[in-house]
Amino acid sequence: MTALPQPINLFEFEQFAKERLPKEEYDYIAGGATDEISVDRNHRAFASWALRPRVLRDVSALDLSTTVLGTKVSLPVLIAPCGGHKRAHPDGELATYRAAAACGSIMAVSANSNTSFEELAKAARGHLWVQMYPFRDKEMTQEWLDRAKEAGYEAIIVTLDSQWPPSASATSAIIIAGRAVLTIRRRMRRRRGPQAGPEKDPTPPRPGTI
Ligand SMILES: Cc1cc2nc3c(=O)[nH]c(=O)nc-3n(C[C@H](O)[C@H](O)[C@H](O)COP(=O)(O)O)c2cc1C
Repeated sequence: MTALPQPINLFEFEQFAKERLPKEEYDYIAGGATDEISVDRNHRAFASWALRPRVLRDVSALDLSTTVLGTKVSLPVLIAPCGGHKRAHPDGELATYRAAAACGSIMAVSANSNTSFEELAKAARGHLWVQMYPFRDKEMTQEWLDRAKEAGYEAIIVTLDSQWPPSASATSAIIIAGRAVLTIRRRMRRRRGPQAGPEKDPTPPRPGTI
């Protein structure tokens, strides 16, 4: 059996993922929209932060905890809503959630999650927030909010944008995201029965038209 890699920083995680994941899955996770300018900016913004070592201090009781919208977290890092964790590992969102709970942080469950948010809430030990696309159909939006409340979610993250295929370099990430949104809409319609009508538009939705 090959030994599991022990990455020491995020760049090494990225490299291991690149070696192990099928190209389409890797591109979905690592790629950005259109010219990927924000990916580059994010790297540069992150690199501009420096940790100032402090010496000759009492480090016996370090505390990185803080409060985010009234919820105490043990470190100032949360898990943003990201769809399709099973694309990278069969345990999918349940594994991510276990990690978030073990670190004392919050996992924001994506609307494109491979595991239903009710199922995740049942496994809950930590804090869970859920992402929501405001559907143009207000009843669908209400239903989503009711389900989240009933499942015990503590907060809703409202996503106000969605990607639209770029003119030149259409990345698989964007196509997958578009498909995922259609799947959510289809699932919601199925839950509501035949009166909801058939899926009409097979193309990804434009921002604000979900
Ligand atoms: C692979 C991937 C999947 C994502 N899926 C979603 C999603 O399903 N819903 C959503 O609202 N945002 C999604 N996002 C956006 C993230 O929640 C986050 O807003 C974005 O990555 C910016 O944060 P960052 O600069 O830390 O990457 C996704 C991002 C990535 C990289």
